[in-house]
This record gives sequence, C-alpha cells and structure tokens, in this order.
Amino acid sequence: MPILDLPTSDYPFRRRQLMQKMHDSAVAIIPTAVPKQRNSDVQYPFRGDSDFLYLTGFEEPEAVLVLIPGHSEGEQILFCRPRDPARETWDGRRAGLEGALAQCQVDRCYSIHDLNEQIPALLEGRELLFYPMGQNSDFDARVMHWRNLAKSKIRQGIRYPQEVVDVGGLVHEMRLFKDPAELECMRAAVGISGAGHRHAMRQCQPGMMEYALCSEIEHVFRRLGSPSVAYPSIVGGGENACILHYTENNAELRDGDLVLIDAGAEVAGYAGDITRTFPVNGVYSPAQREIYEIVLAAQEAGIAAVQAGRPVSDYHDEAVKVLVDGLRDLKILSGSRDALIEQGAYKAFYMHGTGHWLGLDVHDVGHYRNKDKTSRKLESGMVLTVEPGLYFAPANLAVPERWRGIGIRIEDDVVVTAADPEILSQNVPKKVADIEAMMAAGPA
Ligand code: GLY
Ligand code: MN
Ligand code: MN
Repeated sequence: MPILDLPTSDYPFRRRQLMQKMHDSAVAIIPTAVPKQRNSDVQYPFRGDSDFLYLTGFEEPEAVLVLIPGHSEGEQILFCRPRDPARETWDGRRAGLEGALAQCQVDRCYSIHDLNEQIPALLEGRELLFYPMGQNSDFDARVMHWRNLAKSKIRQGIRYPQEVVDVGGLVHEMRLFKDPAELECMRAAVGISGAGHRHAMRQCQPGMMEYALCSEIEHVFRRLGSPSVAYPSIVGGGENACILHYTENNAELRDGDLVLIDAGAEVAGYAGDITRTFPVNGVYSPAQREIYEIVLAAQEAGIAAVQAGRPVSDYHDEAVKVLVDGLRDLKILSGSRDALIEQGAYKAFYMHGTGHWLGLDVHDVGHYRNKDKTSRKLESGMVLTVEPGLYFAPANLAVPERWRGIGIRIEDDVVVTAADPEILSQNVPKKVADIEAMMAAGPA
C-alpha cells in the first residue's frame, strides 16, 4: 500500500525503450541487489538495485529481469520468489508469480528457482548479452555458465551471445533524464528532506548532541513516509563541518558554533540531498557570516549557470570564481583570480566538486563528459545538486584565526528545464535573515 500518493512509472514503456536501444538479436539479464548479512541472523535493510528498480519498480530481493526483443513467448520476463506461506511468516509477504506479473506488467513470470533451467535456452540464438558485469561475482559466474551451455550447442547450429556488454551504458543514459513521474517522486523526496531541515533549524539548541539533532531530522523523514535516508546523515557542529563525510554525529553542539547538516530522505527510491549550515544559537557571528555570504553567493552563481545548453562544467567554474574572489577579499589568497584557479590554490579550502547528478542514487549515474572528453551540455530533465562550500580546518594555518574551525556548505537540488532551473529544495531557508527568522520562531 503506497503511503504517499505518487505516480507509478510506466515500467513496460521503459523496458520497450531499452529493447529498442539493444540490438534486435540481443538479450538483457538484469538482477536486483543481493541482501547483505549484518551479523548472525540479521541483515542490512534490503534495497534493490537501482537499474532493476528503474525497469521494474519491484522491491523484493531474489529477482531477475530478462529482456528478449522479438521473443515469441514473451519479450519481458521476470524471475522472482514464489509464494511460500512458511517463509512469509518469518520474512514478510511476497508478491509471488501472479502478483509480480500483475504488478510489473511483464509478459511472463517464472520462479527464481527456474533460472538454471530457463536462461540457457533464452540465450540460444542471441548475438549480444547486455549484463551488469562485475557487480556480483557469484551471479557473473552463473551467467557465464549459462552462456557456455548455449555455446556448447554450436555444432547443432545454435548461435550464442559472443559479446557481453555492460547494460549500464544504455540504462544509465536513460536514467539521467527524468520523466514526469520521476520528477514528481523527486519533488516528494526533496520536499520531505526539506521539511526535515526546516524542523531541525527550529529544534536546534546549544548543548544538544549532534545525534539528537540528527534524530529530529530523520524523525520527520520517517513520519512523512520516507522508508530510509538516502545516505548517512551528516550533522557536524563547529570544526566537524570541515570533515566532508563526517557521520559520527556524537559531539555536543556548542553555543557560538555553526552546525552543518547534509541529509536527504529517500522516497519511492529517489534521493533528496540537501545541506544547510546554520548557527547553533540562532544568530551568525560576524566572522561566520563573512564566510557564509561568500558560499551563498557562489551557490547562487552556480545555480544561475544550470541552464540547458551550457556545459555541465560551467556551474562548478562559476561557483569557484565567486569563492576565489571571496578568498581574495578576505586576504586568504592573493594573486589574480585566473592564476589562483589555474593553480588550484582554492583547493585547500574547497576540495570537492560543486555537484553531481541526483536520482535513484544520490550520486546518480550518467556521464559528465563526452567521448572527446569535453563537458557534456545540460539538457532538460537532468537533475543535479549545487553544493559549494568553504572549509577552514583548525589545522589550516593559511587561514587567520578568526575563521579557523568554520566549515560551510549549502546544497540545493535542481532540475534543468528549458527555462530557469527548478530548485526542488527552495523552501528550505538559506539567506542569513531567513534562517535567523526561522530559528527565532523556535519549535513548531
Ligand atoms: N550527501 C552527499 C553529497 O552531498 O554528495
Ligand atoms: Mn549532500
Ligand atoms: Mn550532494
């Protein structure tokens, strides 16, 4: 039963699109992820493979999609777990073959236990095999075994797939362009993420522990229907904000420090990815504000460059120009802007890129460069993050003491459109006055 009223993607259409991109006599085998054991009888929460989810929407483990263009007995086949009342008592409900057939609108469903029996015959007569090689060595070996079985019939005049091609090359390019149903899901994912951030701003108090603030934001995610965070939440007070992937979240939030929260909810498989950096006591100090305004200006310059037709590298370049100008104004760097950028002098304070594709994966799939290594151009339907920052670690003696220990990042999720970009996270305050006003309002 869906908790949120979200559109269902047209999975059969996506599978037909993928088959059109494959050779007529190709076959694709796309398994979902493998459950991972945490210890003894406990598993990590299961989350399906993103390519598999994109093509099926089917969230159960032990499932494999096979696509065979032109196959007379069905082009779209799903292998999944059969119903099993005893196992379902322990592990939860299963769709079963009939349920999966109806849910996924494939042509046929077989039991996952029939893979060995069915797949070799499905490979016979096919020239190309599309498969995500290298993700699961056990399954890789099974696929190669099935291919060898088909190959062993060569003297009977049977052809087999001589080439194995990474199916990701086709699926990832499809995933890069979000269709209307996906954009609705992403609006929901980022909307719920944003509600969590606003709540955290209002709850934050000096003396709270980072994990307590983390629980406030994640509580909102869950309460609004997100089954999981999209990635481990980062809640870093003071100098902890200078550790880019800080996830210990176990220090006290001190009066006078900033706190950086990088957290996003997953909804219908799609990731939100938002960062805000705000004062623990509700008011930015003059020194914090000086840095904050530079990062905010860089972020706005980056967003302004998210325009269809512009190279994807532009928005990083525009953000870096503003950061470097700011570092020169603060006299942390000296020299010409161009030379400082050329030398990478800013990387001591800004050591990551300005964003990434966003979708089913938080760092979503898709190339950033063309084959000739030039930056690819932005196109409508792409979704990306814009997330510049400045990090003045306490040990960075190139920074005057006034600013040491300050780390700031501001991150929004943005859709490329034919006109101005759509900022999915725009309802989370980021201007100093707006954040201070929201924090002053206190808990809702
Ligand atoms: N939260 C991961 C990132 O911002 O890339
Ligand atoms: Mn982030
Ligand atoms: Mn990000």
